Amino acid sequence: MYTIGSWTCIFLIICSMQSVCNCCDWIRHHYGHLSAEYLSLLDQMGGDITEQEAPVFFPELLYRRIDDAKVKTIILTFHTIYQITKLFDGNMKAVIWDKKKLDDFLNILERQFENLKSCVSPAEKPERRLKRYFKKLNRKNYSAQAWELIRKETKHHLQRLDIFKAKMH
Ligand SMILES: *[C@@H]1O[C@H](CO)[C@@H](O)[C@H](O)[C@H]1NC(C)=O
Repeated sequence: MYTIGSWTCIFLIICSMQSVCNCCDWIRHHYGHLSAEYLSLLDQMGGDITEQEAPVFFPELLYRRIDDAKVKTIILTFHTIYQITKLFDGNMKAVIWDKKKLDDFLNILERQFENLKSCVSPAEKPERRLKRYFKKLNRKNYSAQAWELIRKETKHHLQRLDIFKAKMH
């Protein structure tokens, strides 16, 4: 009984160490690369970013408040990317973006999200302000303009998160 208990314990410790290390490795070796890639695809998939204002204020304070807290940075990054993947859901018939670049953009973003998942406990809930912001942005009418606004806001967030990459490891 004692032996089984200790083995289970060692096994659990190894598992938890491994997931933490996978996460660090991902951030160190891949995060910045993928971030650069989806930012460039987002630019290339359509024309110029719209000058129209989004119907909701960018949650600038959330980003400013982070300072140098590494864990918080990773959590905010994870939640924001999750919300962005949810934004790009639904009827996209109105947009004339490059389909292949759009698909690549979404696939790479999804890959980033899946890998960051191992860094963040499911108990970490997104900030209410962040959720509220994305909820408002998501009340879109699926028109070409609405999608362009979403593209603009997405770029703003992903640029913000790109700046964090040096802080996350
Ligand atoms: C749809 O949303 C866009 C962006 O917010 C807005 O410019 C446009 O007027 C809306 N169109 C309709 C039909 O509501």
